[in-house]
Amino acid sequence: MGRMAGKVALVTGAASGIGRACALVLAREGARVFAADVDDDGLAGTCALAGGEPAMAAIRLDVTSEAAWAEAVGEVERRAGVLHALVNNAGLCIAAPLLETTTEVWRRQQAVNLDGVFFGTRAALPLLAQAGGAAIVNVSSVAGLTGVPGLSAYCATKGGVRLFTKAVALECAAARIGVRVNSVHPGAIETPIWAKMQSDGRLDPGSNSVEDLMAGTREAAAHATPLGFPGAPEDIAEGVLYLCSDSARFVTGAELVIDGGVFAA
Ligand SMILES: NC(=O)c1ccc[n+]([C@@H]2O[C@H](COP(=O)([O-])OP(=O)(O)OC[C@H]3O[C@@H](n4cnc5c(N)ncnc54)[C@H](O)[C@@H]3O)[C@@H](O)[C@H]2O)c1
Repeated sequence: MGRMAGKVALVTGAASGIGRACALVLAREGARVFAADVDDDGLAGTCALAGGEPAMAAIRLDVTSEAAWAEAVGEVERRAGVLHALVNNAGLCIAAPLLETTTEVWRRQQAVNLDGVFFGTRAALPLLAQAGGAAIVNVSSVAGLTGVPGLSAYCATKGGVRLFTKAVALECAAARIGVRVNSVHPGAIETPIWAKMQSDGRLDPGSNSVEDLMAGTREAAAHATPLGFPGAPEDIAEGVLYLCSDSARFVTGAELVIDGGVFAA
């Protein structure tokens, strides 16, 4: 029997990369998954890979919108009646030195990476608390544990996610509502975010092809990673699965680093 059999999960940023892998791994382990994103085509691709409903359903959700969160959680409640796992994964990374970081770029990353996690956690917590055992996993970054030059705005959001996670974990524990809350900190994972981060957060690389941007980052990531290669989205998804599952029943407020050894140095 799957490790998520009989459970219902909601994954944000599920149209691509790590979110897609999380949705597919949770579905593989028997969860009924609601895959949420603003990218309809990508979401359709994720759902098709899982064989469509009832294993997986797409929900259009802009995580920066409180109203959209209320609708999405309402839809999960209407259709499934329960929610056991929320994976706050949607994210945006825009590389820029501090003096070139515009207020708009700062706010756009705050809105998706930090407001999105806050809105999602607050909106879903009442439903999660009714499940009799549930988990929230917030996808932060190694850039939420240490400073990275050229990523100050992104680091600020991911550091915020790390401590938000711990505070909510302690509140939930004290309230005895059976909701565990943990963060995951990926190192360099090969996803389209590598191309987007050099192109104002969008897959619009201008004169450079996406593959050129990916190849450059792949090489740099391999050099910077003690294991000698970048991670795959599934490497993160397996950690997220553990934290969502009952195997992690004694784990809350923790930070799971999955980075090929970078943080050991
Ligand atoms: N790939 C890495 O190297 C890496 C490293 C550390 C942390 N992370 C984190 O992992 C998470 C997933 O990133 P990824 O690498 O899979 O990137 P990705 O670009 O492949 O996927 C991000 C997804 O988030 C979605 N998204 C963006 N804004 C949204 C919004 N407002 N509402 C809903 N969905 C939205 C995008 O449409 C996309 O499908 C992010 O939080 C990222 O910061 C990634």
